[in-house]
Amino acid sequence: MQRRTLVALTLALSSAALPALAQETVKIGLILPMTGPFASTGRQIDAAVKLYLAQNGSTVAGKKVEVILKDDAGVADTTRRIAQELVVNDKVAVLAGFGLTPLAMATAPIATQSKTPMVVMAAATSSITEASPYIVRTSFTLPQVTVGIAEWAAKNKIRKAVTLVTDYGPGIDAEKTFKDRFTLNGGQVVAELRVPLRSPDFAPFLQRVRDSGAEAVFTFVPSGVGSALMKQFAERGLDKAGIKLIATGDVTDDDILNEMGDVALGVVTSHHYSAAHKSAANQKFVQAFGAANKGMRPNFMAVGGYDGMRVIAKAIEATRGKGDGNALLAAMKGQVFESPRGPVLIDAQTRDIVQDVYTRKVERVGGQLWNVEFDTLKAVKDPGKAK
Ligand code: PHB
Repeated sequence: MQRRTLVALTLALSSAALPALAQETVKIGLILPMTGPFASTGRQIDAAVKLYLAQNGSTVAGKKVEVILKDDAGVADTTRRIAQELVVNDKVAVLAGFGLTPLAMATAPIATQSKTPMVVMAAATSSITEASPYIVRTSFTLPQVTVGIAEWAAKNKIRKAVTLVTDYGPGIDAEKTFKDRFTLNGGQVVAELRVPLRSPDFAPFLQRVRDSGAEAVFTFVPSGVGSALMKQFAERGLDKAGIKLIATGDVTDDDILNEMGDVALGVVTSHHYSAAHKSAANQKFVQAFGAANKGMRPNFMAVGGYDGMRVIAKAIEATRGKGDGNALLAAMKGQVFESPRGPVLIDAQTRDIVQDVYTRKVERVGGQLWNVEFDTLKAVKDPGKAK
């Protein structure tokens, strides 16, 4: 009898205690490539999420925000499995991260089935937000940022160009957007080249660029890969041959720009974020990010992570820490704020980010290389959704 009473009492106590404990924390599952070829994306986003919480406090609406960081090594099956575990076992309120398009695509059905908001902080293929109504994006899209450089090229006497992109979602988006805009403005794309995502060798492709007679090569490679491309561009003598390299800002990534050396000088790109962006909010961000991370410079991935954490925290605040997936999602839609990149809006209809896109040139300032912004397209909506 005594033992049965004890068991019953223990059961009653634990089931009473559990919901109370669960109420005190809001869990965020942050899935990033922390190892493997895209680890720089994970490192940048993780540091930025930590910085946001350090600056703003990790208690929101009286709840402790707990970020559970998991490494998917950039492998889509792993991302999906981890997401499933985070939802089922850890009962996370929000899934976040997603360093590459295939990782976001693989996880979208889990967000839909479990009605869990999924904040995409990195991946940038236009169609990602259409893969689940629970996806909100704080990074960018390739069509959104490619428009700027396509228009700049046509206005700056480039007539013939070759496109050279990584062969998957974002690269194909960049290739198509560049061709459409550049052609519309009188330019001609004479060849469209695609390099593999895994272990790319640019040499044979750069040789084809050289042989094509084009005045410029428009490139997209994902964050972290730009220095290898730049190195081979110089080694093959394309710069000496007078071929211009133009790109989205993924290529002149702030995380690796200083390693590129002189070959990067003068390269014109368009993108939504430069660590050199002139605003008080950005100066504060770059300074604090460096101070917390041994002088590391934040790149566009860091900004996607920082703003993503902001969008999540404000949604928790707006729902007073009591919101379910649908309430949190509703509170993410329509947020307007000043990011280190400039003014942004989470479009309530598309759940995608609307932001300024800058044209920039690599310059040496104070002994370091920077993407110096010189022109702005205001409040650009993803052209993939504008149709
Ligand atoms: C993507 O996989 O969507 C992706 C990754 C890195 C970038 C841009 C897009 O720099």
